[in-house]
Amino acid sequence: MSYPVLFTTVRGIEAIAAQELQQLGLRIASQASERKGWVRGTIGSLVELARLCYTARTIQRGVWVLAEGTIRRTMEGLQDIYDLVKGIEWQEWLLPETAFCVRSNRHGRHLFQSPDIERTSGQAIVDKIRERTGHRQPVRLDQPDVLVRVEVTGEHCVVGIDFVGEEALHRRGYRVYDHPAALNPVLAAAMVLLAQWQPHESLLDPMCGSGTVLVEAALLARSVPAGFFRKNQFLFRSLPFFAKTDFDELLLEWDMRADWNLRVPLFGADVSPKHIVGAQQNADRALVADTIAWGVSNLADLPQKFPPKTFQCLITNPPFGVRLGSPARARETHRTLLQVADELLSDNGRLVVITHHPEWVETIAPYLGFSLQHRCEVLHGDLPATIAVFSRSKLSTPAGPMEVHSS
Ligand SMILES: C[S@@+](CC[C@H](N)C(=O)[O-])C[C@H]1O[C@@H](n2cnc3c(N)ncnc32)[C@H](O)[C@@H]1O
Repeated sequence: MSYPVLFTTVRGIEAIAAQELQQLGLRIASQASERKGWVRGTIGSLVELARLCYTARTIQRGVWVLAEGTIRRTMEGLQDIYDLVKGIEWQEWLLPETAFCVRSNRHGRHLFQSPDIERTSGQAIVDKIRERTGHRQPVRLDQPDVLVRVEVTGEHCVVGIDFVGEEALHRRGYRVYDHPAALNPVLAAAMVLLAQWQPHESLLDPMCGSGTVLVEAALLARSVPAGFFRKNQFLFRSLPFFAKTDFDELLLEWDMRADWNLRVPLFGADVSPKHIVGAQQNADRALVADTIAWGVSNLADLPQKFPPKTFQCLITNPPFGVRLGSPARARETHRTLLQVADELLSDNGRLVVITHHPEWVETIAPYLGFSLQHRCEVLHGDLPATIAVFSRSKLSTPAGPMEVHSS
């Protein structure tokens, strides 16, 4: 069997997500016509889809696709959606007592809104099941057993069953300290992958805030599934067609790959003692506190605290100077960051920065011998940002994420 699936991710890192999913077993559909934030493919079994949702670090959701088609952008588009949803034999996937709910994401210009799509699709499911069985399928908006996704982008509509749940996968379940400008862990994981960081290499985040980059790096190195700390929130566990599947057993099997004893050289610094305490709390909760060293330090002072060329990777999220702090100070921090990277990175070192102001780093980097290897435009919350990857010498890995080009 081959099941069509859709994964959603942060816009701009589709190629990185596709590469990760492919390594986990997804057969990728052609990416030429890919829509922003989507990765499409097929998978050999629905349990495999559950495994990918549980394991992958660079996705937000995974959906088993039951139908897709073209819709109009006018109010008639709602009739198109109704017909598309009603075309599915829902009674085959829902038991009479299964409570469902429809959620929709809409991108582009339409004369209708997401709640209209949800209402129309819900009605189509109720009508279809009533026609086939005479039974009225229960709807539950809060904690349904089955979450139906209707994703609309322009004139394209995809309908399927969500394997993840209300909370997308950037909610990892380990964050006990909330930094006011915390990085989305999905982006943090993508940055670590883009750096081609290897667990034996030393990695520094000199403005680590609540420690997201380092916690993600540690979990990646230890092969801990990204869903490990939110096991009970996955909706695939309550899907009626998995009634005979023992997910406790399967999750245990998937967790067995983790190597909790692996020590990796990770270092985090921040000028704020409060954030460093918070980062330690997050690392503690994520069970990786034993492999990350923390220190309170101003960025500019770090070259006095470490010998030159100590680190192979420097991955960081400097202040944007948009909502917190001043743009002038943020610009100065970007400049200092490059000087610190110049002193502390080894000869094959890589610098990965997510910034709202790529020009602040890209203009200086060549003068310090850093060449831009890759850049992707992403959304950091609702702010446009760029992930820029620099290396001291050109990297020569054959098929790493460095080959991925900006979307
Ligand atoms: C955007 S936040 C990083 C958020 C972090 N990635 C997370 O997920 O929590 C930027 C951090 O840089 C720190 N910072 C700003 N200027 C600094 C400096 N000169 N030296 C060290 N840290 C600095 C701030 O305290 C803040 O925690």
